[in-house]
Amino acid sequence: MSSTTHLSDPGSELVLGIETSCDETAASIVAGGTTVLSSVVSSQVDLHARYGGVVPEIASRAHVEMITPVVAQALVEAGVEGRDLSAVAATHGPGLVGSLLVGVSAAKALSLVWDVPFVAVNHLEAHLYASFIEEPELKMPLVVLLVSGGHTMLVLMRGHGDYEVLGSTLDDAAGEAYDKVARYLGLGYPGGPIVDQLAVTGQASIDFPRPVLADGYKFSFSGLKTAVVNHVRKNPDVAFEDVAASFQEAVVEVLVTKARRAAAEYDAQGLVIGGGVAANSRLREAILDVCVEDGLHGFLPSHSYCTDNAAMVAAVGWWRWHSDGASPLDTGANPNLTIPSRSPQV
Ligand code: KG4
Ligand code: ZN
Repeated sequence: MSSTTHLSDPGSELVLGIETSCDETAASIVAGGTTVLSSVVSSQVDLHARYGGVVPEIASRAHVEMITPVVAQALVEAGVEGRDLSAVAATHGPGLVGSLLVGVSAAKALSLVWDVPFVAVNHLEAHLYASFIEEPELKMPLVVLLVSGGHTMLVLMRGHGDYEVLGSTLDDAAGEAYDKVARYLGLGYPGGPIVDQLAVTGQASIDFPRPVLADGYKFSFSGLKTAVVNHVRKNPDVAFEDVAASFQEAVVEVLVTKARRAAAEYDAQGLVIGGGVAANSRLREAILDVCVEDGLHGFLPSHSYCTDNAAMVAAVGWWRWHSDGASPLDTGANPNLTIPSRSPQV
């Protein structure tokens, strides 16, 4: 199919999306796969901040507490009721198993109560689709740089549902490197937005390594994080602003160089970004520059669609429902789910 038709059609079918894969409890109502009527995100950041990272047990308990009010708020803000919905979609992986189970169980229960289909959604596919929410007419082939706290990968999207992972990280994800560097510097959690903010006033004067820059589409950020730690140990008086700016420059140069190379090699029409790190100010600026210089159709999703949210889950849920039909009710949470590479016919 050319599912562009579906994605660009305003449509009237309402899908409730539910996202609980990590530390955000989120629910959203999306019409026709692209028109967001509500998108509610309850962040658990304050609960995890004192531990410097997400504590799985605390995350699942908080999801249990928040799932009902968050879904109720999404319905109220959209001005709809359960019986108006066409489907209920939930992230079923990858992520923390205890967290995923809360969203998946809630979605199945609601689908039974409202007698509508349940659709299991892949969290990574949802991040790939974040740009389509605001720009449904993106042309394929499209290179997507997916950079989050758990994943860093370059994906070639040849069509809707037709993906090829060109490369991913050998160790830490980009967001994880941000979080670890921030934790080492004692800056707080999550580290990405803090380092991003700090870098604005710093000079990228420290020559940190650009890991595996020449090596295809693989990424590696663990050595860069260690280089930051070693530099700060050797230079205790170094300005953290300069460390932040220099670290960020190294990360962004690696990400953008590889994304640009992939777009050229695969004759991509467009280049987009997704995942929490896609909210990074320097990365957004650099991606836009590349798109202008190389004549690529680029798109930068709003910050609220970069970080974890349920609008992207509802969008993919709508599309997958049209493509594959409802998911069986015995579909479980799958913490290790990978990007689907199958090309479904719609
Ligand atoms: O996609 P996301 O919300 O959750 C996952 O699926 O992992 O991404 C969260 C990650 C965290 O590591 C966070 O530090 C990072 O995204 N992040 C950023 C920025 N905002 C969030 N990293 C760099 N710059 C930012 N502005
Ligand atoms: Zn995510």
